[in-house]
Amino acid sequence: MRSWKAAILAGVVAFAAAGTTYAADIKIGFIVKQPEEPWFQDEWKFADQAATEKGFTLVKIGAEDGEKVMSAIDNLAAQGAQGFIVCTPDVKLGPGIVAKAMANDLKLMTVDDRLVGADGNALEDVVHMGISATKIGETVGQALADEIKKRGWDMKNVGAIRVSYDQLPTAVDRVEGAIAALKAAGFPAENIYDAPQAKTDTEAALNAATTVLNKHADVKHWIAFGLNDEAVLGAVRATESVGISADNVIGVGIGGAESAINEFKKPTPTGFFGTVIISPKRHGYETAMNMYEWVANDKEPEKLTLTAGALAVRGDYDAVRKDLGIE
Ligand code: GLA
Repeated sequence: MRSWKAAILAGVVAFAAAGTTYAADIKIGFIVKQPEEPWFQDEWKFADQAATEKGFTLVKIGAEDGEKVMSAIDNLAAQGAQGFIVCTPDVKLGPGIVAKAMANDLKLMTVDDRLVGADGNALEDVVHMGISATKIGETVGQALADEIKKRGWDMKNVGAIRVSYDQLPTAVDRVEGAIAALKAAGFPAENIYDAPQAKTDTEAALNAATTVLNKHADVKHWIAFGLNDEAVLGAVRATESVGISADNVIGVGIGGAESAINEFKKPTPTGFFGTVIISPKRHGYETAMNMYEWVANDKEPEKLTLTAGALAVRGDYDAVRKDLGIE
């Protein structure tokens, strides 16, 4: 009799356990393409906050190339993860990433850089959170145009460095947004020079921008824009290295993480005039929360979320960050 009761009780307990996913059993991966970049450090920091709050395990992995992404996914599955969020080093890996996630029975969400298929179109079935790239680019272009006018420069005598990384759709949308706003403000299209960067870091942007500056040594005033703060910082460093003074340079980036803040903290203003601050909190905390809800409570996130940004300059970045809830 006693053993009978015990057996039934054990069965009830097992049944109850099978119906609930305990937070402590949940493991979520967060893979990023450039772990050294402050933006991604911040994303991880905010994702960690979600993990602490809910009690799940967050596994952070840096994957700078396709091979590393693929082995990271296998690794997560081997560790018993249920899902992962990824900012891939190459969006063309899209179909491969989707296939690997499915083969390993892992839920998949992307952040920042949206996966594309063989035809170059976005994989719309994959849950994604990115920035409103065109709109944010337009904010950059408008800020540049406003500052050109404020300084009283004649647009005919201004050169623009378009630091580009055209294999990444969000990068194209950002710079094209900036160009659209500049043109609408009367900026001459023929004064915009392309500076393709080999990688999305400051050094690659510096090299690309230096080539443009050397080719157009007669230009007096310069503006610069690109995919992120690192791209614009590279262009600003390039102007410095060829001896153009800071008051002849206006760079406006996108990001607002440590790379930009360190620049604003310098005692003397540099050519890095401003940045459109975007939210690593939304991209880190919210994506991790969404994945948690998906795994724990079967609540599938919205397929597409696009986040906003706000312009900040030397004097007001602290206030803008606070307004965006990033501190
Ligand atoms: C891309 C860029 C990052 C950052 C994010 C924001 O991934 O490489 O620097 O701007 O977009 O979504």
